[in-house]
Amino acid sequence: MTVIDDIESRLTQPGDESRVVYRHRVATRVTHWTWAIALFFLLLSGLQIFNAHPTLYIGNQSGFEFDNSVLSMRAMQAADGKVDGYTTVFGRSFKTTGVLGMSGPADNPSYRGFPAWATLPSYQDLSTGRVIHFFFAWFFVAAFLVWFVSSLISGHLKRDILPSLADIRALPQSLSDHLRFRFHHDGRYNGLQKLSYAGVLLVIFPVIILTGLAMSPGMNAAWPWLLDVFGGRQTARTIHFLCMALLVAFFLIHIFMVFAAGPLNEMRSIITGWYRTDPEKTEPEKKEEHTA
Ligand code: HEM
Repeated sequence: MTVIDDIESRLTQPGDESRVVYRHRVATRVTHWTWAIALFFLLLSGLQIFNAHPTLYIGNQSGFEFDNSVLSMRAMQAADGKVDGYTTVFGRSFKTTGVLGMSGPADNPSYRGFPAWATLPSYQDLSTGRVIHFFFAWFFVAAFLVWFVSSLISGHLKRDILPSLADIRALPQSLSDHLRFRFHHDGRYNGLQKLSYAGVLLVIFPVIILTGLAMSPGMNAAWPWLLDVFGGRQTARTIHFLCMALLVAFFLIHIFMVFAAGPLNEMRSIITGWYRTDPEKTEPEKKEEHTA
């Protein structure tokens, strides 16, 4: 009997049909919390850096004389003299006073992209924002590399992250279960979880790291081809921002799912590794479910 089998049998109560299984290895848990903390600081300091020039472009050029901006957050004065914050996306402007473009107290507003509560430091300070951003970027890259190598060696990547053909076939059922908030607590991730984790870990994380590197002048000298891959510095900046927005969306859904699926069991698993599964279904129950 291995140590893990021994702990599993001791945590599983006699007469209780559910089982406690070892779901997350140390490397998965430590890297998960390292990137969760690093991403928090990267987000706030990244928005501080964005605020230094709150417009995104496609291509290599930037500035008033070019017509290649895709997103911008600015304060503008209307014909009646009233100043408001506006966010312009692909040429369409939306009034976003109070949050984007113009925020803070009405009698002393700040004309800035993201508001003070969303940036680090809260006041405009590009150089401190850059120091914080680059410091946590290396923690994030290190955590990602440790996760990738250890998951490759332990088989976590192939077994738990890359969806199998059976997972793809079961996707419609998995989607309908999620929409009806019917969660199955198995020892393994379901197909939807695998797809979303693979999207984050194998697409968004590498792209946000590479577009970050593509914006660094040092890297431009060492790997000039990297800028060409992403279609120029300004496009790399826009893709970097888009990845950030996708990670924020993932984070909100991720937290919602953790709470919907049972926060104590889920949190225990990602902190200690141990996870309580559903009781095994008996044959009559299975039949009932199929005929329902
Ligand atoms: C930006 C922050 C975060 C990102 C990008 C993220 C991403 C991920 C990823 C990719 C996994 C799968 C890891 C693997 O199996 O190798 C995971 C698992 C998990 N995360 Fe997060 N996470 C974040 C923050 C959080 C937070 C704040 C919580 C808790 C409130 C949390 C709770 C969990 C839990 C419970 C699991 C395991 C799910 C399960 O076993 O079904 N995560 N997360």
